[in-house]
Amino acid sequence: MTQSSKHGLARGLTNYGDPAFSLYLRRSFAKSMGYSGELLARPVVGIADSRSGFNNCHRHFPELIEAVKRGVLAAGGLPIEFPTTSLGEVFLSPTSMMFRNLMAMDVEEMVRAQPMDAVVLVGGCDKTVPAQLMGAASADVPAVQLLAGPMMPTSYKGERLGACTDCRRFWAMHRAGKVDAAGIAEVEGNLATTAGTCAVMGTASTMAALAEALGMALPGSAAIPAVHADRLRAGEASGRRAVELVAKPIRPSQIINQKSVENAIRVLLAIGGSTNAIVHLTAIAGRVGVKIDLHRLNEVSDSTPVLVDLKPTGQFYMSDLYAAGGVGAVLRELKPLLHLECMTVTGETLGERLAHEEGAWVDRAVVRPLADPLAKEGGLVALFGTLAPNGAILKRSAADANLFEREGRAVVFTSLDDLAARVDDPALDITPEDFMVLQNAGPKSGYAMPEAGYLPIPQKLARAGLKDMVRISDARMSGTAYGTIVLHVSPEAAAGGPLALVRNGDRIRLSVKERKIDLLVPENELAKRKAAWKPPVPPPARGYAKLYMDHVLQAEHGCDFDFLRKA
Ligand code: FES
Repeated sequence: MTQSSKHGLARGLTNYGDPAFSLYLRRSFAKSMGYSGELLARPVVGIADSRSGFNNCHRHFPELIEAVKRGVLAAGGLPIEFPTTSLGEVFLSPTSMMFRNLMAMDVEEMVRAQPMDAVVLVGGCDKTVPAQLMGAASADVPAVQLLAGPMMPTSYKGERLGACTDCRRFWAMHRAGKVDAAGIAEVEGNLATTAGTCAVMGTASTMAALAEALGMALPGSAAIPAVHADRLRAGEASGRRAVELVAKPIRPSQIINQKSVENAIRVLLAIGGSTNAIVHLTAIAGRVGVKIDLHRLNEVSDSTPVLVDLKPTGQFYMSDLYAAGGVGAVLRELKPLLHLECMTVTGETLGERLAHEEGAWVDRAVVRPLADPLAKEGGLVALFGTLAPNGAILKRSAADANLFEREGRAVVFTSLDDLAARVDDPALDITPEDFMVLQNAGPKSGYAMPEAGYLPIPQKLARAGLKDMVRISDARMSGTAYGTIVLHVSPEAAAGGPLALVRNGDRIRLSVKERKIDLLVPENELAKRKAAWKPPVPPPARGYAKLYMDHVLQAEHGCDFDFLRKA
């Protein structure tokens, strides 16, 4: 028996120069945990646990993981949980995005180095699911993605609140002077009141839906609320399925391919999902050698209607989507547009899955029919032009269409610190027709591409009632935010892209119809500015920050590290 053909605890032995001794020693130490010989002979299902005291969204994982263990034991496997990096979105500085690749490396290496025949990946908060899928795709051990599930909205003074579109709505009202300090303090305690991920179609919910659309999570599991008993049943079923995958392996590389990635993009567009998902899906796809072409994104976007009416672009919450039929309801509507031959982790193709679900109940207030969509075209578009030669992203479904075809004067902020210092200055020279431009907030900026693209409307304009204006940056935007916001401009300013060369008063032309974003400055002037350009931050001297800065790629490559993508 070769090392790779071994199962359970006999996999990947620690090397002492005597394999039989290594196995004997491993069993001895495993027995110190009280396992019987019968259990130690079973196939091993690893459970990658991304809980942490710094991650509110995963606070129910102890109970959820118990359910996974039940499923593994019932199906004849041995469940062994192990901790990985956890990324609690609002607890990390400068941003969780900087550490997504660290977590992906952690997951990949721990799945590969420890003796497991299959793994259940338990994650939810924004970067955790991308990191787990990236790591699992590279390790290529049979894997089931189990999602945390969304939070429930809270009833508050006659309306429903849920993180985090309502967080932003109330904060905008506070900035505009419509909610006072006491009011905002009260709201603070009513936005995120249960375990689970943000309650709207933000990044976490979008990635959950994409995990199911890709075929890596069990059918029907993406939208189940974190606190619903069905979430525990999904945990148990995921554990069972992982054991079945040991006998008949289906590896991530057999599930994630060009066609399943395109299915995921269709779903992303139909649900009005987060712009961040483009970056994450690109990174996941890159781990199996699949490239997402932003021109193709535009073609797919033009032929994929928006079907789901969830915040931040619509009115409902994720728990409503679950009650309305979940991601399955969306997939059934999109059926004519999907590659139905794609394999899923269940062992059935997507088409076989959907055939079982024909005629299932759907709440049409939440999931519209393909023939009567909320919008005829998908929510996201890629823009190209002299300001973004390698692309930029606009979430048109979350933007004001009146701002789509226009030319404006640039009002430039050279960094996030500059923005914070000046945006509310009453003397700031800015009008509603101007384009706010933020430089140096991309992957290599030192801020690690934070969700800062939702630039605050300057207070003097907000107080005058302005709700939206064109904002451009190389940053990302929270999936729970909205506005006419051009993001992920590439190459970024910190890499010397054209964004770095914009000056106050320059003219910029935006045309969503033409998919264009152009800096209207003569080439010879730009060449002069480029010659005088210097990187905004010195290179880090050591540690993960150095590894990150030396190897992180631009947004169109998913911000993965160059050495982690499949050639
Ligand atoms: Fe974890 Fe929003 S903070 S999903």
